[in-house]
Parts: sequence; structure tokens; C-alpha cells
Amino acid sequence: MNCPICHEPLVHEGKTFRCKNHHSFDQARQGYVNVSRKQKASGDNALMVNARTAFLEAGLYDFMRQAVFEKLQAIQPKTYLDLGCGQGYYTKAFAAAAGQSYGIDLSVPAVAHAAGQDKTSQYIVGSIYDLPFADQSIDVETSIFTPIPAKEAARTLKKDGLLITVTPGERHHIELKEQLYDKVRLNPPTKPVEGFELVDQTEISALQHVDDVMVLLEMTPYFYRTPKEGIEKIKSLKDGLDVTFDFVLSVWRKKHESKN
Ligand SMILES: C[S@@+](CC[C@H](N)C(=O)[O-])C[C@H]1O[C@@H](n2cnc3c(N)ncnc32)[C@H](O)[C@@H]1O
Ligand SMILES: [Zn+2]
Repeated sequence: MNCPICHEPLVHEGKTFRCKNHHSFDQARQGYVNVSRKQKASGDNALMVNARTAFLEAGLYDFMRQAVFEKLQAIQPKTYLDLGCGQGYYTKAFAAAAGQSYGIDLSVPAVAHAAGQDKTSQYIVGSIYDLPFADQSIDVETSIFTPIPAKEAARTLKKDGLLITVTPGERHHIELKEQLYDKVRLNPPTKPVEGFELVDQTEISALQHVDDVMVLLEMTPYFYRTPKEGIEKIKSLKDGLDVTFDFVLSVWRKKHESKN
């Protein structure tokens, strides 16, 4: 890891990460380090973190997690970074396929949760747009349902380094949307990532029964835009709902810099 202020390497001494210019960042009780320079915490709040943890632990996203794990296992990266790691649900599993693993997220409650349940990875509170890592120092980065920081990913990945992204497929959660809207729009296709070339792209999907549809709705971006009637309708689905989980799994390779 590098100092986010002067970019010199950070040395881990006891409970502190320090650079040669005496910038220091304390390790929290749970083991994570906060390199964010913002005074106010942002990112997901504790309520959102708890809702997502409960939902993920029900296992409906596990087939996607397994597909990404298999990709990582085939690559066996020495250094691995999970961008926007949230509560570390994926990071923790993926760490088993990597040498040193890191997870970074802006949300203090999410990172505290992650660090509390995974002692293998180093978790960081910080921005994916200002990564505390040296140029060309990481073998593989993942971005699962998070914004993709193309420039910072390209800077920090080694030559031929890989970025693995998971983005929503066209029909992701379509049955839930049908409950909420008269006219349902499909999700747009996955956009290219600047500075990267696509190596492999697969769409994986499964129709799965969701017992508590309200918990699913709370996890989605539609929740905050759903009018009261929509919420009532979802609450009335006592037998649950069969829902499509549709993911686009993409592997991108960092493009070689042109020589001129
Ligand atoms: C939809 S969640 C996905 C979390 C995790 N990858 C998962 O799938 O469980 C998006 C995450 O991105 C984080 N995030 C958003 N903007 C960020 C930024 N600029 N820097 C770091 N994390 C960010 C949020 O705090 C949140 O944890
Ligand atoms: Zn420094």
C-alpha cells in the first residue's frame, strides 16, 4: 500500500501505517485502515450494510460468486484488490484464490463488518478513485456492482493485469420490476471500460425463488424511487416471487500504453 498524500510506500508498524514523510494512518480495532481524507463518512450506511448482508447470506448471489471465484482460481493472482468491496462478502471468498488480498470501500460500517469477519484480507476505508496503491502493483482487481474507476484501475494494475467486472444483465430482477412498473425497461448493455480490452464476457442467469421480496427490493436502487403503492404491493406478496438473477461477468485486460 502507498500513502494517499505523498504516494510513498506505507509501512505497517504495530497498529499504524506510516510513510517516510510521517503521514500516518491508524489501524482500527477490527483491523482495517482508514486512508480517506474526508472528515464525514460516506458510502453505504449501517442500515444498508445490514440489509445487504442479510440478503447476500440467503445465498441467491452465490452462483455468480462461484463463477468469479473460478476465474480467479485459474489466474491465481499474487496481489488482488476488490474495488467497492462493501461488507466483504465476495472479498473473503476470493481471498482463498489469491496471495495478498485487499478490499477498499468508502463506507466505514461496511469495511468494519468486512474486517471483522475476514482476517486474511487487508481492508481499507478509502475511495476507489484515489487508490492507496503504487502504479502497476496489483495483478487482478474486481468490481462487483460498483462504479468502475477505469483510470485508477489502469494505473494500479500491472502490465497485462486483469479487471473482472460483474454488472447487471438485461433481465436482472425483471419480475420485481414488473410488479412495480407498467412498462419495464431492460437494463442497458455493459459499457466498454476505457483503457481496457475485453478478454472474455459471459452472461450467467438463474430464476430463483425469493421468499421475502421486500428484502430484495430494499437492496435495489429502485427502492428509493418506489411510490407507497409499490411498496404495499411488494409487501402483499406473501408467497414470495420467482425472480431472474442475471449477471454479466467480464474480464478486461489493461491495454498496453502506446509508445509515442
Ligand atoms: C452496490 S454496493 C456493492 C458492494 C459489494 N461489491 C457487493 O456486491 O456486495 C456498492 C459499494 O460501492 C461503494 N462505493 C461507492 N462509491 C465508492 C467510492 N467512490 N469509493 C469506494 N467505494 C465506493 C459503496 O459504499 C458500496 O459498498
Ligand atoms: Zn505520505
